[in-house]
Amino acid sequence: MIGKFAIRDGKVDYAIRYVETARYKAEKAARRALFGQYRNPFTDTPEAAGIDRTVANTTPVWHAGRLFMTKEDGLAYEVDPETLETRGRWDYYGALKSETFTAHPRLDPETGELFFFGYEAGGLCSTDVAYCIADRDGKLVSEQWFQQPYCSTIHDFAITERHAVFPIFPTTADLDRLRAGGPHWAHRQDLESWVAIMPRYGKVDEMRWFKGPRGVSAFHLVNAFDDGDLVHLDICLTDTNAFAFMREAGGVHRAQHEIQGGLTRWTFDLTKPGDTFESRVIGPPGDMPRLRDADQGRPYRSAWYLTVNPQGGPRCRAGGRRSPSP
Ligand SMILES: [Fe+2]
Repeated sequence: MIGKFAIRDGKVDYAIRYVETARYKAEKAARRALFGQYRNPFTDTPEAAGIDRTVANTTPVWHAGRLFMTKEDGLAYEVDPETLETRGRWDYYGALKSETFTAHPRLDPETGELFFFGYEAGGLCSTDVAYCIADRDGKLVSEQWFQQPYCSTIHDFAITERHAVFPIFPTTADLDRLRAGGPHWAHRQDLESWVAIMPRYGKVDEMRWFKGPRGVSAFHLVNAFDDGDLVHLDICLTDTNAFAFMREAGGVHRAQHEIQGGLTRWTFDLTKPGDTFESRVIGPPGDMPRLRDADQGRPYRSAWYLTVNPQGGPRCRAGGRRSPSP
C-alpha cells in the first residue's frame, strides 16, 4: 500500500491505496491467495505461474517527476502522486534489463542522477547484480552487470561523489532450498562479508573487492564519502543477521537481545593494494538511518537512526508514557 499526507492551506488530508501490482490484480480477480511463501515461487498455486510476484511495498522513491513504489524482488511500480493510482511496472521504456530494482536507490543532490542496482537481476537465486544510473530526466543511461561472490541480499548500497560502494553480507539464497519449499534467505555465519568499490561512472571491471568479517550483517547504510584516496562507509552493522527468521534458517540460534553491533565506519584506502580495510565503531547499535538529502555521498555532520540504550538490556514499554531517551 501507499499512504499520503497532503498538506495544503494549513490542512492535512490523508489517503491510502493498494499498489495494484500484477499479483494484487491476479489475486483480486481470483478472490483468493495464489502466491505462497515469501519469495518462494515453488510454493505458489499453478495459476500464479509467470505473474510478477513483487508486492512493491518497501520504499516510495521520487525521481524525475515520477513516484515509484519499490521492493527489491521485482521492478518498481509507478504511482500517480495525486490519485495514488498505479500506472504500471516501470522498466525505463523497456531499457532496463534487470528483473529487479532496489528499494534503496541513491539520489545525487547536485546532479539529480539516480544510482541504483538490482540483485538476482538475472533471475531467482542468480548472482547477477545490475548497477544502473538514470539521469536527471529519468532516462536510463547506464546498466552494467557483475557477479557477487554468493547470492546475498544486497538491501542497500552507497555512493560517494566519485565511487559506488556495494556491501555483500552472507545472508544467502539457494535454489535447492526453495525447490524443497524452504525459506528464501538463510544467514551463513561462516562466510566472509565483502565490499566492492568502483568509480561511480566507471566500468564494473574496475571494481575492487575488499574482504570483511565473517558472519556480520547489515541492512542499511547511513552514508559513504570520499576523503582524498580514502572511502568511508558508515553501516548499521550487527554481528549476525538481526532478523530471527533469516538467522534461524541458517542454524544461528541467538536471542534478539544478544545480538551485538554498532554504527560502524569502514574505511578503505584505495592507494593500498590488498583486500583489507579499517573498522571502528562510531555509534550505538541501531538501524533505519535517515540522512539529510543534501549530504548524500558527501562528508556530513549528522544523521538520524533508531537505537536502544545498549546498557539498558531488553525492554518493552507498554502504554502511553514517553521515554525520555532514545
Ligand atoms: Fe530497507
